Amino acid sequence: MILRSTIDRVFETARVEEVIGEFVTLKKAGSNFKGLSPFTDEKSPSFMVSPVKQIWKDFSTGKGGNAVTFLMEHEHFSYPEAIKYLAKKYNIEIEEEEQSNEQKEAADERESMYVVSNFAKDYYHDVLLNNPKGKAIGLSYFKERGFSDETIKKFELGYNLDEWSAFTDTAIRKGYDIDYMSKTGLTIVKESGKQFDRFKGRVMFPIHSMSGRVLGFGGRILKADKKAAKYLNSPESDIYHKSKVLYGIYHAKQAISKEDTCYLVEGYTDVISMNQAGVENVVASSGTALTPDQIRLVKRLTPNITVLFDGDAAGIRASMRGIDLILEQGMNVRVLIFPDGDDPDSFSKRVSTEELKEYLKSNSKDFINFKVSLLMEEAENDPIKKANLIRDIVTSISKIPDNIQREVYVQECSRIMEISETVLFNELAQISKKIEREAYQKEQQQIRKAERENQRLHKTDSRGPRVEGGDQRRDSREPSLMSRAQRKASEKAGLAAKKNAPKEINTLELYEREIIKILLIYGNNQVEFIDWIEEVNEFGIVKMVKDEYSNIVSQELYLQLQDDEVEFSHTIFQKIYVEIINKLNVEQNISIEELTSHQDAEISQTVTDILMDDEKHILSDWESKDIVVTAKDEVLPKMVTDAILNLRRVLIERKIKDLTAELAEGKSRESSLEMVVDYTSLKTKLFEKLNRIL
Ligand code: CTP
Ligand code: MN
Repeated sequence: MILRSTIDRVFETARVEEVIGEFVTLKKAGSNFKGLSPFTDEKSPSFMVSPVKQIWKDFSTGKGGNAVTFLMEHEHFSYPEAIKYLAKKYNIEIEEEEQSNEQKEAADERESMYVVSNFAKDYYHDVLLNNPKGKAIGLSYFKERGFSDETIKKFELGYNLDEWSAFTDTAIRKGYDIDYMSKTGLTIVKESGKQFDRFKGRVMFPIHSMSGRVLGFGGRILKADKKAAKYLNSPESDIYHKSKVLYGIYHAKQAISKEDTCYLVEGYTDVISMNQAGVENVVASSGTALTPDQIRLVKRLTPNITVLFDGDAAGIRASMRGIDLILEQGMNVRVLIFPDGDDPDSFSKRVSTEELKEYLKSNSKDFINFKVSLLMEEAENDPIKKANLIRDIVTSISKIPDNIQREVYVQECSRIMEISETVLFNELAQISKKIEREAYQKEQQQIRKAERENQRLHKTDSRGPRVEGGDQRRDSREPSLMSRAQRKASEKAGLAAKKNAPKEINTLELYEREIIKILLIYGNNQVEFIDWIEEVNEFGIVKMVKDEYSNIVSQELYLQLQDDEVEFSHTIFQKIYVEIINKLNVEQNISIEELTSHQDAEISQTVTDILMDDEKHILSDWESKDIVVTAKDEVLPKMVTDAILNLRRVLIERKIKDLTAELAEGKSRESSLEMVVDYTSLKTKLFEKLNRIL
């Protein structure tokens, strides 16, 4: 583990424009730099670097971040790799956490395993190309399969002789430790002490990590032998975890991010043949069921996966789970089936590069159309089967974490299946209810924990009365937007706040984003706020009284949102919000840099996006470190108040709509009507407030 202090030094020292300048030609444009996007082939520059904010944004792909994210995107470094690269560039000494002897040994051991695996790869490759038997058996096999010299070199394919210990003997002679040969599974050591090669008389496919290290091998038998497995693979080891690697990822990564999509196939030969045919963004799950770790590997490069299936339908149904897994990871999934009898390997060889690319382009279907085309035939005239198919599709849709995307698919499904969106949304709510409740409970636990921590840290807060409650202002406020009881009730009715009709979610996202933006840009500002409070005089007459008070923007937002128990419906905004609030408690100050350089790529990406959105309007208004904007002081109080009021307004409108719908459908409880009345009067009050403050 690299020490936090080293990481901080790297971030303090590295200049984003210098780092990117090594890969992209940058030209000065005002206070920024511009250049051609390194992620697409473009003619006019849409890539921007801000030296002031120390962030970059590629407007053509939407990517953006800081110096580290750039290296992760462009060079496909892992986080520590990027830090190490920068440390080297800026001559910063890397201090790592003092490792225990055991940790050191383990690290050394893994290193030794990598070294011997790399030697094995070179050895097998050399045998294939230079050994007479290797050439006659191994090389001619690959040639017969149509692999070119170039392809064989690129994938470092090899062959091991059909002898007991050809590899093991050579390795020992060269001084490699039998211990590591055994730990990587390259050599099998019997109890008797007898040592022999695991792979014998097989052509060898080295399996690389994302950064190109050899982790293990697949070895294919050459003669048809019913008793022996066609492929023999390296066993699980400290460096090879089958569930965490994808064959071909090292050779595909550049093309995956450039094409912004990844083709997923089954086998080694599928990857290699498609590569040879000119389609390089291909990886293989190596015949096993897809795992979340493998999907996340691709997600580092693109949000889009297309799963390619062989023509014979046998494996297709079994792979449905894989599709749901991909959806669960928040990725877009498309599916493509090859003509009957073809797999990607055979098809790539049968047609020209153009035909292959055209086939891939015009035959991929989104997962709904895929399921429909697969199952509709038998379901068409059978209502029960059709209902099951719909449930199947909606189940898949329910796995999608993003609200907006989920809706797009509901609309698509509604169109294709000719069934109303309302019915689908209801079905979705049913299915999601259970999952949601679990997630919700977990979230609540975390938030409660944060709140407790918060209260502990806030004991010395200067604005005591408002936090403690019990003062007049607090008492006269409207009822909390969603009391716990109401929330429970709405959950019971399947109307958990997060699932809803299309347009509202978009407005909600807008206002949520606005609040995050205000926090990021003006969070540290001290502002004079105005509020209107109901006061009842001695004659029982209600009067609105103006209340003026001063507060820091972030404090105000925090208190208001806490009062209303508002949670952001977009998890990413909620995440950023929690980050900001935690920081605020510790340092009493929001630091943009810590967020744009956050380890969680989604956080740094979103924060960068929000900051760059405003580039045109506010770039010159603030400094990179402490954001103090004086000119905005007049409009700021209104901006803050409006943002909160608008958010509450949308939430209330949604609430009213839900309740009204319940009433209309006649499945309401007695309290529903009352609640509608309450919420409507609340809404009126909010509108009054919005106008008054105007
Ligand atoms: N596989 C395996 N062990 C086996 C069979 C298959 O590990 N006994 C894995 C391999 O990663 C293989 C993938 O499953 O690449 C797909 O299997 P298959 O389609 O049978 O192999 P192909 O790669 O198509 O190989 P070939 O074209 O040489 O038959
Ligand atoms: Mn195959």
